[in-house]
Amino acid sequence: MAKTLNINGASVSVDAAPDTPLLWVLRDELGLTGAKYGCGVGQCGACTVHLDGKAVRSCQTPIGAVEGMKITTIEGLGGVHPLQAAWVKLDVPQCGYCQSGQIMSAAALLAETPRPSDADIDSAMSGNICRCGAYQRIRAAIIDAAAAAKA
Ligand code: FES
Ligand code: FES
Repeated sequence: MAKTLNINGASVSVDAAPDTPLLWVLRDELGLTGAKYGCGVGQCGACTVHLDGKAVRSCQTPIGAVEGMKITTIEGLGGVHPLQAAWVKLDVPQCGYCQSGQIMSAAALLAETPRPSDADIDSAMSGNICRCGAYQRIRAAIIDAAAAAKA
């Protein structure tokens, strides 16, 4: 049955069963491939998007649970988010696979806590795995973006 989802500010009609994971719909139905399939079981963070501003794992989020909510994907940041500038400036990605999920978790953090402490960053980012081990650059870019937003 068709459902209407609010994705990156647009109303989108999707024809899929209510238990279909949001990640599947984003990637396979809508061509929004920024969110990645990593583990499929909520353990890696590669599929992270925002639901009403909160970071969630879209592989574990059935579309039947998100009607009426504001869904934001990495595409919705438009390439102009301060985090994206910091990511470029500090050359954060290695292979890149985890990076959209990292940025979405970081964006939710900064929206709620514009000046995060180390502990805030640890807490917000602990569910995002980077197999390339770019954690130091990811942390530095979050701090850089927070400082840029403050300036
Ligand atoms: S693919 Fe969703 S948490 Fe790993
Ligand atoms: S940059 Fe390769 S997994 Fe994070």
